[in-house]
Amino acid sequence: MSAQKYQFAMIGIGVMGKNFLYNMADNGFAVLGFNKSAEKTGVMEAEATPGTKVKGVNTLEEMVELLEVPRKVMLLVPAGQPVDDVIESLIPLLSPGDIIIDGGNSHFTDTVRRNAYLKGKNLHFLGMGVSGGEQGARRGPSIMPGGDREAYNFAKPMLEAVAAKVNGVPCVAHLGNGAAGHYVKMVHNGIEYAIMQLITECYDLLHRGAGLTNEELHEVFKAWNDGDLQSFLIEITRDIFLQKDDVTNNHLVDMILDKAGAKGTGKWTSQDALELGSPIPMIDGAVAMRNISSQKSLRVEAAKLYNAEPAKLSVDKTAFIQEVHDALFLGVMISYAQGLAMLQVASTDHDMQIPMKEVVNVWKGGCIIRSLLLQDFDKAFEKNPSLSNILLDEAIAGMLKDKIANTRKVASAAVLNGYAATCLCSALNYFDAFTSAQLPTNLLQAQRDFFGAHTYERIDQPGKFHTSWTTI
Ligand code: 6PG
Repeated sequence: MSAQKYQFAMIGIGVMGKNFLYNMADNGFAVLGFNKSAEKTGVMEAEATPGTKVKGVNTLEEMVELLEVPRKVMLLVPAGQPVDDVIESLIPLLSPGDIIIDGGNSHFTDTVRRNAYLKGKNLHFLGMGVSGGEQGARRGPSIMPGGDREAYNFAKPMLEAVAAKVNGVPCVAHLGNGAAGHYVKMVHNGIEYAIMQLITECYDLLHRGAGLTNEELHEVFKAWNDGDLQSFLIEITRDIFLQKDDVTNNHLVDMILDKAGAKGTGKWTSQDALELGSPIPMIDGAVAMRNISSQKSLRVEAAKLYNAEPAKLSVDKTAFIQEVHDALFLGVMISYAQGLAMLQVASTDHDMQIPMKEVVNVWKGGCIIRSLLLQDFDKAFEKNPSLSNILLDEAIAGMLKDKIANTRKVASAAVLNGYAATCLCSALNYFDAFTSAQLPTNLLQAQRDFFGAHTYERIDQPGKFHTSWTTI
């Protein structure tokens, strides 16, 4: 009698991996979770929903033996060498046509390399971003696969079953060639960095600046989340302000050290944006602010040296809250604008053919940057799938125009009173530069030609020109 066959296996049963498996099992799939430790797989089995088919395996041989063909094995292990190590151990055990899915935050260049390597071994490989954290994995993540279409088609019914649903539509789609899945996830994380940084800057202005208590901040974020800023990040921020610390009974947010961690996806986004020549200064700024935050002891020393306490703001609280709302709205919009514009460039330059409307749809639910605004971006890409920048969409422009004056007030208040508002100011600077028909770059070109004979173009005739500049 042949043993029961399973439809899917997970290597890496940390919280994310386990939750993803439970989600699959709850959707009726028979799944395997691999870990060398029988104790760990035992715990995994015990915590599964009763009646579902979740089995632990402690050897890869047993896992391969129990899987239906073509085998579908997903990896949720730390990015980098661990992914290569697991792939190497799987290769001798798998058969041609089997599918390896890398669901971690792998660098897209690693995915390009693994695509080619595994193709040479007659194995399918799917580089796939997964967003939504622990809860997303359990209740419905946003899933961003790309590359091997045949592999995607094999995995599609399962992925659609477990993905978040928005209006009944699963938040998963094939997002382009090669490493497009991991690329889209990387840019998702870049946008995540920028929006998180913007929120902290608004918090600072409202809290230290205008003196709002945590309870008041909770109410502000609650109202914002009930309005046009509705999004996962605003929602969790709302809740963070009420959380009490078990140890001191203070508000937990006040007990947390102001040093940010980072696993690197924001930095990767900036690095590749520089390579592409696609400007994403808000994401760059957000990465830099995490780095500055981690220089805690230097900051403490410098604060003493410059006696640099930001000034309290003398503002009408209600009016200021509305101004900060508008600045945040504009900043969030421009965070998406920069990330989406970068994806358009990458789509061509990396030959990924990223379907922008699908990206926006996949981000509508389950992921960290899900928000009401995605509906508007969907409409914009519906009208024009090759839209270079969502700021050029008339409906988006209509949403931004009345936010500009208040954004200027908030940015001015930050600058004049000593609050570091890198992303808010950067959003405004980007907006002002992007919407400027004339920039002072004519002078920069003159300088380049002056010292380096780099040539310039003229406003009155085509061609490249060089001048022997006169030194006085
Ligand atoms: C997600 C998150 C997830 C993870 C980030 C955190 O979409 O579910 O983006 O991938 O939380 O990697 O990154 P940092 O540690 O760099 O903040």
